[in-house]
Amino acid sequence: MKIIGYLGSPKPNGLTGKLLKNALEGAKSKGAEVKKIDLIKTHIEHCRGCTNCYHKKPELPIGKCSIKDEMASLLEEYIQADGYIFASPVYDVNITSLMKKFIERKIALTYRHKDDHAKLPEARSPADFKKKASLLVTGNCGDDLIEVMGEPCFEAMSSHFMIEQVWMVDKIYVGGVESFTEEIFNQRMELLYNAGVQLAEEILSELED
Ligand SMILES: Cc1cc2nc3c(=O)[nH]c(=O)nc-3n(C[C@H](O)[C@H](O)[C@H](O)COP(=O)(O)O)c2cc1C
Repeated sequence: MKIIGYLGSPKPNGLTGKLLKNALEGAKSKGAEVKKIDLIKTHIEHCRGCTNCYHKKPELPIGKCSIKDEMASLLEEYIQADGYIFASPVYDVNITSLMKKFIERKIALTYRHKDDHAKLPEARSPADFKKKASLLVTGNCGDDLIEVMGEPCFEAMSSHFMIEQVWMVDKIYVGGVESFTEEIFNQRMELLYNAGVQLAEEILSELED
């Protein structure tokens, strides 16, 4: 069982990074092989909108993109994994541009015939909801503002899941980060550890079926 955590914060050791790391520790305690990918340290170019990656060669598991960056290898790793944790701070009421850039480029995992206008693309390798994901969003605004701050981020990070057929396990909003006491910080760390445990358990039960 392999679970990858994608960090959309530009600060690898910031709060979002710490919470993500603890969620991965929780998954590891259940036997998962885990990896944290700090998107800030990767070379991902902006999508140029040529559409070649999703209009051509449906037989490929990953559509070919002409941009020479790390995205092809990141997608290879993505399709090998059994589970994912996407983590982003709220920046201006949505995910960071760093995370958005990565999500947009995942379009290469889909295919749509160029004459099928106005249709949704299909997954090149549908996961049949056997792969699972959890989402983490952090923000200065309090937990009561989850709908305003958290939901747009959850929507953005899970936008491809229905197409890829990835099952969403959990959506966690950790608000009020500027006024964290040590006690609240420790509680939230535990919450994320348990979310990692739960994600791994759900993947395990699927693998054992
Ligand atoms: C450019 C920018 C925009 C932000 N916009 C919001 C926002 O719209 N809502 C919010 O609750 N917090 C906002 N914040 C606060 C961040 O979400 C908060 O600092 C973050 O959760 C800390 O995580 P980190 O330590 O991983 O960077 C913003 C921070 C920055 C730098």
